[in-house]
Amino acid sequence: MSWFTNALSSTIGKKVIMSLTGLFLITFLIVHVSGNMLLFKNDGGEAFNLYAEFMTTSPLIKIASYILYSGIILHVIYALILSVKNKQARPIGYKLANPNQNSNWRSRNMGVLGTIVLIFLVIHMRSFWYEMHFGDVPIKTYSGVEVSDLYTVVKAAFGEWWYSLLYVLAMVGLAFHLVHGFWSAFQTLGMSHKKYTPFIKTVALIFAIVVPVLFASMPVYFYIQSL
Ligand code: HEM
Repeated sequence: MSWFTNALSSTIGKKVIMSLTGLFLITFLIVHVSGNMLLFKNDGGEAFNLYAEFMTTSPLIKIASYILYSGIILHVIYALILSVKNKQARPIGYKLANPNQNSNWRSRNMGVLGTIVLIFLVIHMRSFWYEMHFGDVPIKTYSGVEVSDLYTVVKAAFGEWWYSLLYVLAMVGLAFHLVHGFWSAFQTLGMSHKKYTPFIKTVALIFAIVVPVLFASMPVYFYIQSL
């Protein structure tokens, strides 16, 4: 087992954990953005509320949620460990180096972008996740089934211009974090290949634009509706 703990504590081992947790979080984003698209269904929130209820009560999804929370925590912890190690290895920073030669703007700013996404996540979880689990969410009844009316909570939150603006700005940060993160995860896992690299880079770019734009369209849609 010592080879395993040694591998995990090495720099490359830590990078592999960052990549695997990052790819797992990317999968979550696909599921989350797809489910949230139900917000656009013109049914007063029925489909979205039923979906949200299923996501909070299904035992299998509950297990997936705990794996998700662990994934987020591991990703953040290992990002912190790696950046402290990088700083220790290079105490004078990048001042003497040519930044463009070493890495591009995005890769040097992954920590800043990751922090923006993390701050967004804390605000986001407080607004919706906390409300759903511990708040006083109104109840709606569909075909005799009582569910929390999370649709109304989302609609009310995005009716505030500053809250919607915060989401749109955070999605810009998420887009830049994803475009580099997606690609570098594949690179760390050894999947760079002359033939496939351009394809992975294109998929990363499309994903990093489409997913945040879809997320950002939700606050924009509800804010415009509230005017
Ligand atoms: C802008 C559009 C978004 C909307 C309308 C939205 C909506 C929601 C809602 C209503 C919940 C609570 C669901 C529940 O507890 O049952 C939730 C949970 C969550 N959201 Fe979002 N979300 C958005 C964007 C994002 C983004 C961009 C991220 C990540 C960067 C994210 C990460 C999460 C996480 C981690 C949870 C907790 C999931 C769980 O408990 O399993 N969300 N979201």
